[in-house]
Amino acid sequence: MHCLVRPLSILMLLLSLPSLRSLLLPSRAVPRPLFLSSLPLSTRYTIEEPSGASLEAEEAKLRKQLSRVRSSKATHAHYQSLHLPVHTRAAFGEFQSFLSSSPASSLIIDAGCGTGRSSHILASRHPSSLVVGIDRSLPRLTQTHHAFDASSCLHSPEPNLLLLRADLEAFYHLLSLTPSPLPVAHHYFLYPNPFPPTRQLHRRLYARPMLGEMAGLGGGITVRTNWKHYLGHFQEAVKGEDEGRGEERGEVRLGRVGGEESGEGREGGFGVGVTNFERKYLDVGEECWELRMGEARVL
Ligand SMILES: C[S@@+](CC[C@H](N)C(=O)[O-])C[C@H]1O[C@@H](n2cnc3c(N)ncnc32)[C@H](O)[C@@H]1O
Repeated sequence: MHCLVRPLSILMLLLSLPSLRSLLLPSRAVPRPLFLSSLPLSTRYTIEEPSGASLEAEEAKLRKQLSRVRSSKATHAHYQSLHLPVHTRAAFGEFQSFLSSSPASSLIIDAGCGTGRSSHILASRHPSSLVVGIDRSLPRLTQTHHAFDASSCLHSPEPNLLLLRADLEAFYHLLSLTPSPLPVAHHYFLYPNPFPPTRQLHRRLYARPMLGEMAGLGGGITVRTNWKHYLGHFQEAVKGEDEGRGEERGEVRLGRVGGEESGEGREGGFGVGVTNFERKYLDVGEECWELRMGEARVL
């Protein structure tokens, strides 16, 4: 017995190191051996939660950044200098002409849709809404959609789906200047780039002026990520914007993707493995999290 305990404890120690775990364990999710189940799960995608002094520094930076982006002077300067890429202008034009003939009753925005996998799922689940998948990466969008035209737009076979090559900040800015005749029912942010180092906090979506414009359009908001910490900040930023406008968004739910809290198994639950990143994470046993703010009007 004694001679078994020592190798076991060495193995457990080695496997608790994230880099070694990913080398030693197979990449496909397999049931965890019982003796490992008490160890915190981490994979090669796990982002460390800040704690102690680094958490305090990050909180301070977040507060400073949020008050900066909310000051009208800074926001005005930002939009004065905001570059509106040609592809985004073209995509916005396509969006407007599509809207004018669409029988849809509301809009769903899949912000940073990557290959558009989640946009297709949303379009088939919500036939009375127009789903707009937006990403600036042509290689991602064309991975599954080869017919992207010169105007940065794909009219998919689904009548209620539009995939656009556009920059999110510029698109949301144009949308808030030229309000859509359709109300926005929901914004999805599925696995946005996290920019984990504190010095890059200003690059995270919730710390950009875009957040205020997005929040001001109304509708529910769903964010999914494998970095739970990110969601607390996102929620705080949206709450601050809503309070600034004297509005309340309604119910807030935070849960693990695949867990009951995230709405899986409930009517309107969104599903598991709905994007490429999500599938990649879930395949290796990485935990993914969902924040949902406000009830979606269409769900
Ligand atoms: C981590 S990937 C997630 C993609 C997809 N949602 C998924 O889960 O598979 C983040 C995506 O956001 C897009 N993105 C990041 N910043 C953007 C911006 N400012 N405008 C448009 N797309 C952006 C990237 O091109 C990338 O495809």
